[in-house]
Amino acid sequence: MKGSRKLYIKSFGCQMNVYDSQRMADTLAPEGYSETAAAADADLVILNTCHIREKAAEKVYSEIGRMRRLKEAAAAEGRRLLIAVAGCVAQAEGEEIVKRAPAVDLVVGSQNYHRLPELIARAGRDRKIVDTEFPPDDKFDRLAAPSAAATRARGVTAFVTVQEGCDKFCTFCVVPYTRGTESSRPVLKIRAEVERLVDAGVREITLIGQNVNAYHGEGPDGRPWPLARLLGLLAKLPGLERLRYTTSHPRDMHDELIAAHRDLPQLMPQLHLPVQSGSDRILAAMNRRHTRADYLDVVARLRNARPDLALTSDFIVGFPGETDADFAATLSLVDAIGYAGAFSFKYSPRPGTPGADMDDQVDETAKSARLHRLQAAIDRHQATFNRSCLGGKFPVLFERRGRYDGQLVGRSPYLQPVQVEAPVSLIGTIAAVTITEVSSNSLFGALVQEPALAGAGA
Ligand code: 5AD
Ligand code: SF4
Repeated sequence: MKGSRKLYIKSFGCQMNVYDSQRMADTLAPEGYSETAAAADADLVILNTCHIREKAAEKVYSEIGRMRRLKEAAAAEGRRLLIAVAGCVAQAEGEEIVKRAPAVDLVVGSQNYHRLPELIARAGRDRKIVDTEFPPDDKFDRLAAPSAAATRARGVTAFVTVQEGCDKFCTFCVVPYTRGTESSRPVLKIRAEVERLVDAGVREITLIGQNVNAYHGEGPDGRPWPLARLLGLLAKLPGLERLRYTTSHPRDMHDELIAAHRDLPQLMPQLHLPVQSGSDRILAAMNRRHTRADYLDVVARLRNARPDLALTSDFIVGFPGETDADFAATLSLVDAIGYAGAFSFKYSPRPGTPGADMDDQVDETAKSARLHRLQAAIDRHQATFNRSCLGGKFPVLFERRGRYDGQLVGRSPYLQPVQVEAPVSLIGTIAAVTITEVSSNSLFGALVQEPALAGAGA
């Protein structure tokens, strides 16, 4: 272990970035860096950025401004604070970042995190380092695994990246440009990572990827394995109680994966399956490669396999050319599916994507009005779904202490947070809970009292 230094990492955007941030911290731990929650105390700040919408990218620059002031304050005390920008803004803007924000010392793209120790050592006082190449080596082989202590501190649920990048090229999306083409990790490497997490106390794993159900990593037989087979293998690991995966594309929801929802008890009855729009015209303009009817058909087959499946989605309003009739089709799809929740966004033109150059961009006022109406519809369905859980009895995986003494927070199979009065010793275990109260997006419950065992034998 080298001299002790403090690291502050802030993640923006999706769960892939949360996972990457943890792996960066794991890679820097042997260099003597321990994480701090206070940026002002840090020797190294890493901003792990998101480029998906303009607002997300702008947030990064205002955060860099805040870090620059901390850097100046540290310098006044004779301390050096290094500022690194990682993630998708780093990948997309590279050199531009140090031009626009000279306080930044290091820009590192999402494929190069294993090189961080070397890059940090090179980042001299006046020297700016920009490393956004896509190297041919597999970064996952070189990123350090978390220690058992680090895993325990992160809790009983964990993300594991199984694929990165995307080949779909939806016309609004920067992912294929920032994260590159689709690539999947080999099955046995994923299993080894999951085993280590489970040994350290993790009970629920979410497999993540930008287009996770396009997974086709090399299997133990040397052939590409689909996600369904990977899930089947992981479900056999003793101690792993729950599996989820996200984010999926409707086109890659094949029969074997649908059947896994019926056959694997560890696979939770919850699925994030973004549709983006309910209008065929807009779906075509978005290059989504599926129609409204295709989506409804996939959902019907999923619900046939797992009738209680809770579905969530992402929506974009105000894509170029979207008319009132197109938007009405989106609202009617929301009603037809009955989502348990969803994210919705105003279309944000991203430079370099085909959508940004399309004619008939929708004006801001119409976008805002549509977003407002869509969010109200989604909230209504979410409330209906949550109300349908009232009085139900569900297994809850307890994750951490709640806000009040004596209270724990856990998750239902449908990913809803549930607050329950329960002893701390239940953290990391699954117990049956009756839902006693439902507020807008929280559930409250009570432990089901098991009847006392009467005598021996079953
Ligand atoms: N504008 C608005 N929303 C976008 N998303 C992706 N790109 C854009 C964009 N240019 C949304 C999609 C996607 C989610 C992660 O972000 O709904 O599913
Ligand atoms: Fe982006 Fe998802 Fe479309 Fe891929 S499938 S281009 S990640 S929105």
